[in-house]
Amino acid sequence: MRRLFPKVLFFAAIFACCVPAQAVDVDAAKKLARQNSCGKCHDPGKEAPFKKIAEKYRGDAQAEAKLTKHLTSNPTVTYKDGTKEEHKALRTTPADDAAQMKNLLQWVLAH
Ligand code: HEC
Repeated sequence: MRRLFPKVLFFAAIFACCVPAQAVDVDAAKKLARQNSCGKCHDPGKEAPFKKIAEKYRGDAQAEAKLTKHLTSNPTVTYKDGTKEEHKALRTTPADDAAQMKNLLQWVLAH
């Protein structure tokens, strides 16, 4: 029993650290991004690839909340060439579906 205990702790630590509480539905996220034409600007080689955004928010506990606001409030974004434009809002079916928004953002942040 004494030898078993550290092992249990070891696996508990791995579980707590590395197994996501809720898996991201990648296919659903990609489909929603496609339906919204997000890839027009957010693809590798494009103006604002999701990888760059994921890096910017790495370790930020507020990332999901901030980006939910980003995708619902049409903020002004600045392009590399300095042009400013209103950012597109995410449209879900049915409208304003919080679970779909969350899934998409978790996918974005996992890049
Ligand atoms: C017309 C081009 C364009 C489209 C379409 C577009 N975006 Fe963006 N998006 C941008 C630009 C430009 C930025 C700012 C990039 C930067 O800050 O480096 C941005 C920023 C973001 C950010 C990061 C915001 C932040 O606070 O850093 C997220 C997340 C995002 N977009 C998600 C999406 C999603 C999801 C869609 C589809 C609904 C989408 N975008 C559609 C151009 C676009």
